[in-house]
Amino acid sequence: MALISCCYKLESGTVRRVRPDDKKRVLRFCNNTFSWGDYIDTVWDSWLEEGEFFTYGIYGDAQSRAASSQADDPVGICHAHMHKRQVWIEGIRVHPDYRRRGIAAVLVKTAEDSARNLHGMAVSRMLIDTVNSPSLSMARLLGYTISQTWIYHHLNPGASMATRGNGATDPRIQMSTDEELDPEFYSYYVKSWRWYETGHVVPSDLLGGGMGAVVVASASTDSNKNDGDVAGASTAYEGILKDTVAIMTVSRSIGGTGTTLSATLYPGSDDAVCRVLAYLQEQAATHGCSSINVFSKTPLPAYDTLKPRFTFHLVEKSLVAQEEVEPNAVHPSR
Ligand SMILES: CC(C)(COP(=O)(O)OP(=O)(O)OC[C@H]1O[C@@H](n2cnc3c(N)ncnc32)[C@H](O)[C@@H]1OP(=O)(O)O)[C@@H](O)C(=O)NCCC(=O)NCCS
Repeated sequence: MALISCCYKLESGTVRRVRPDDKKRVLRFCNNTFSWGDYIDTVWDSWLEEGEFFTYGIYGDAQSRAASSQADDPVGICHAHMHKRQVWIEGIRVHPDYRRRGIAAVLVKTAEDSARNLHGMAVSRMLIDTVNSPSLSMARLLGYTISQTWIYHHLNPGASMATRGNGATDPRIQMSTDEELDPEFYSYYVKSWRWYETGHVVPSDLLGGGMGAVVVASASTDSNKNDGDVAGASTAYEGILKDTVAIMTVSRSIGGTGTTLSATLYPGSDDAVCRVLAYLQEQAATHGCSSINVFSKTPLPAYDTLKPRFTFHLVEKSLVAQEEVEPNAVHPSR
């Protein structure tokens, strides 16, 4: 088993890497976490394979405590995904009976240390539901700040686009490579519920192997004023004007079956947004996607089966020259 660069211990347990045989005991406390359930069971295998999957194991008694970590009982988990300069921390869960003992804090600290010391990551990010106060408090305590807020929408892939026109022949829909995206305005794209900096796009992440940015040209700058929060991005692009941009990725559905088309949408005029949404439905059908997730920083116009679901804060923390937080300053078991 790979060594953890810095191993924190609270009074009654320690952080270690997850083992395949932990699954049953971990899923016991990761099934009804949220109102809609949980997704840990569906990502378990891929997170194990990716590595950087940590658990906090407690020892039941002095005897097992003296024995190897094989004798512990996992009561907390978190996973860290490395990409370019960013560690994405996800899946933080602590058994309800063991909360407020500093377990989540030491798990996150371990993931950060591993990211910085073993993988050279410069920034740590995670996504937190805007109503998840315990998590937001924890992130604040660990030095994270809210950098952006995103709205997650579900778009029905089966809805008819007959009334919206055909994206493939819509002259205002244009495909673009990520190179034409100015990271200052189009800062992130989402794949499989992870936010990535657009300055570090992996072409294969994008639908069409790099041709995944949709550009919608404004027919008229007067009637299609760009009132989204990327107003400054409405710049000339090969003779046309960028109005609405969607960055499309496809990945295995989390918490479901099949594949999901995720679109990170930088909205402009209502008309252009609706054309892009129709285009997304068309692309989902072409690629056999069973669901479409649409993420935007501002509310989108009313459109058929587009439903806003949850709002999330993207929180971040620099890992460069950060001050060390003493794990036991969080507090030992209470
Ligand atoms: C959020 C969660 C992971 C916190 O785990 P935890 O081990 O209890 O957290 P810690 O003991 O490390 O808490 C560290 C700090 O976070 C804050 N915090 C944690 N739980 C809190 C709560 N219920 N209310 C207010 N603040 C809370 C506090 O500042 C706490 O420090 P303190 O106890 O010294 O005040 C846990 O409640 C959980 O599993 N929730 C369900 C899953 C979830 O929401 N995951 C996060 C998704 S982003």
